[in-house]
Amino acid sequence: MQRLQDRVAVVTGGGSGIGLATVRRFAREGARVVVADIDTAAGESAAAEADGRFVRTDVTDEAQVRALFQTAVDVYGGLDIAFNNAGISPPEDDSILTTGLDAWQRVQQVNLTSVYLCSKYAIEHMLNRGKGSVINTASFVAVMGAATSQISYTASKGGVLSMSRELGVQFARQGIRVNALCPGPVNTPLLQELFAKDPERAARRLVHVPLGRFAEPEEIAAAVAFLASDDSSFITASQFMVDGGIAGAYVTPL
Ligand SMILES: NC(=O)c1ccc[n+]([C@@H]2O[C@H](COP(=O)([O-])OP(=O)(O)OC[C@H]3O[C@@H](n4cnc5c(N)ncnc54)[C@H](O)[C@@H]3O)[C@@H](O)[C@H]2O)c1
Repeated sequence: MQRLQDRVAVVTGGGSGIGLATVRRFAREGARVVVADIDTAAGESAAAEADGRFVRTDVTDEAQVRALFQTAVDVYGGLDIAFNNAGISPPEDDSILTTGLDAWQRVQQVNLTSVYLCSKYAIEHMLNRGKGSVINTASFVAVMGAATSQISYTASKGGVLSMSRELGVQFARQGIRVNALCPGPVNTPLLQELFAKDPERAARRLVHVPLGRFAEPEEIAAAVAFLASDDSSFITASQFMVDGGIAGAYVTPL
């Protein structure tokens, strides 16, 4: 399907995981993709695969974020899609009792301030065209509590969710849709490694997933492509759950 033919898309954190799967999916659907990442090797390789552009960007840096979206416009003539997806979940961010202010602030910067900056500079360009789709990566933890806390991560994703809702409402009549994507746990190398070492830890989480497994990055990318395309033209300000049913579940199948 070529739903994104000639649309210009920026993907932050495009070098790995959900971002990389989305870069590939966007390219397959005909988009011109600008990959932003702090990891130059990974970002360059993703951009090469998509026949797109790589712009090394630290999403916490205002000047770099402004330059990223300006580059997309300068190179491809406009901006249609912003997938603001880069994020971190470092081990120092844990229970509120043990998480220090440094770890708290770092996670807020990378996960929340970045989405503020990327939305700000993306929307500015989209307003010039009267059209655009912004997709901000939140998480299912923005709508559910866990006893296995990563306190700053959870708070940052709650911020992404409510900021996206507000932006979706504010810009709805100017042709710009803004949605918060809420993935459930995704099968990434990090997760695999963690759970291979500790199967009990994996089982404790899997029991809550009605589908009985974690998502593949491609399944999240498919949802992002839908939100980026005109197929989702009546969807804005949403918390778009792609979570295998977790948020709807009480008792799951055996
Ligand atoms: N993996 C999951 O289970 C899961 C679940 C829900 C939400 N999410 C969210 O999805 C998003 C992507 O996660 P992922 O699992 O694909 O992660 P990942 O670690 O595979 O990829 C994240 C990418 O972001 C880049 N990045 C990190 N800091 C950056 C910065 N300051 N500036 C620019 N780029 C930076 C990294 O280099 C990396 O390429 C994150 O926002 C994450 O919180 C992930």
